[in-house]
Amino acid sequence: KQTDNHILVIFGASGDLTERKLIPAIYNLYCRSFLPEKFAVLGVSRTKFTDEEYRKKVILENKHLKDNGSADKQAAFSEKIHYHAMETSDPNAYGSLKDRLTQLDISGNYIFYLSTPPSLYEVVSRSLSNVGLSNEEDGWKRIIIEKPFGYDLKTALELNKQLLSYFAEPQIYRIDHYLGKETVQNLLITRFANSIFEPLWNRNFIHHVEITAAETVGVEKRGGYYDGSGAMRDMIQNHLLQLAALVAMEPPVQATESAIRNERMKLFQSLRPLSPEDIEKNVIRGQYTSATIHGETVPGYREEEGVSPESRTETYVAMKFFIDNWRWSGVPFYIRTGKRMPTRVTEIVIHFNPTPHHLFVKNTGVMNQDNMLIIRIQPDEGMLLKFAMKIPGEGLRVTDVDMDFHYKDLADTYIPEAYERLLLDCIQGDATLYARGDAVEAAWQFIDPILKAWETNPNIKMYGYPAGTWGPENADDLVEGKHKNITWRYPCKNLSND
Ligand code: BG6
Repeated sequence: KQTDNHILVIFGASGDLTERKLIPAIYNLYCRSFLPEKFAVLGVSRTKFTDEEYRKKVILENKHLKDNGSADKQAAFSEKIHYHAMETSDPNAYGSLKDRLTQLDISGNYIFYLSTPPSLYEVVSRSLSNVGLSNEEDGWKRIIIEKPFGYDLKTALELNKQLLSYFAEPQIYRIDHYLGKETVQNLLITRFANSIFEPLWNRNFIHHVEITAAETVGVEKRGGYYDGSGAMRDMIQNHLLQLAALVAMEPPVQATESAIRNERMKLFQSLRPLSPEDIEKNVIRGQYTSATIHGETVPGYREEEGVSPESRTETYVAMKFFIDNWRWSGVPFYIRTGKRMPTRVTEIVIHFNPTPHHLFVKNTGVMNQDNMLIIRIQPDEGMLLKFAMKIPGEGLRVTDVDMDFHYKDLADTYIPEAYERLLLDCIQGDATLYARGDAVEAAWQFIDPILKAWETNPNIKMYGYPAGTWGPENADDLVEGKHKNITWRYPCKNLSND
């Protein structure tokens, strides 16, 4: 697709995301010749930098850029970066921003990337609109909103309303970086470019679906933000529900933005609302406590910088829910996420039904004899199908074997980072991999009663779990029968689980 000349304006330009993700993503697009002849990045924040000082910070001294491209390339890219110091929260400051954009003399196409605290989303979008910077007469104008998109249903509704009074829905790009991951996009291809999976992809053949996003890190330096958020808002409401939508949605009629987004939306609408009893029984929350991992003692969540010593914020959530439609009626979905888990792994496991009649004796040591399709989102991106095979030799003994595909086996294949893909999509005006306003609201609609119940129901416990473990053991009880200990407790189904 053609990329128009444009300026990318980053609000929150002295922040961590800009240095870690945004500038490297733009730079990679530049090195791969995806950017038009005329483009510029304009960093905006309060700190006073000259263009030169800012270039030094985000290019020369940016360790996330190292080893990329040649020195000449970097120098040429550096010329494209500019900086504008201003008080983002002051509506009167936007006139000078507009003048600066005009001076850059690139074109009237602008992307405004809001990498600021959410409290500024309203004033930035309003002020842009007040000085005519949402007006598309002289070129397109797009606004990218970082997460968190709202704090609960009410604030998400308010935010959508505010944004929509300054920008039109097609101009608004709500980013969920999970949708930009290559393996997440591949869910669409796996499901809808193969004829062998889709006939099985329903309640008649699938026993349950499990989605895990485990991280080994704690809250790092983000305690201040995280303590007001928690795993439900930080990971489940957005990233994990988006994964669930791609796994469970109906086939879109076309591979277009609106067709795909409509299907994701329909899926959110089919989530069975959790009753107060469901919330007590089927949603488990936990908080990591101090422990020694590989000889190193790590602090508990409440001892982390920026976190209240009495904090009731969850760093782990596991939950069970159902999707009320023809395809999924009665199939449980289990999703979980946690910080300070033993391994970093994001994976989706489709557990197929057992064979209707068991002919063969299970070999000792076999983990599970039901078929599983394991979609490894990260790391070690790939896909693995587990199926039964005869152990060579006497008798008819059965074991599990793997059909295993790793992305890394695709030699010479460049796998772009999520932000790279998503920024390019926005430049090209394609919002397929961004969240639409109504879908974000529907996801909040599902999550909101849980957050409210946690605030008000004293019977709902907050379980501690030692850092470096797979979370509270109570989460095992979400899953019934034989799947409980063998297949749910440990993610990383293609590893040895020890
Ligand atoms: C972010 C969350 O959206 O996603 C972080 O705010 C989390 O808390 C991160 O660590 C995980 O992203 P990834 O791409 O590393 O899986």
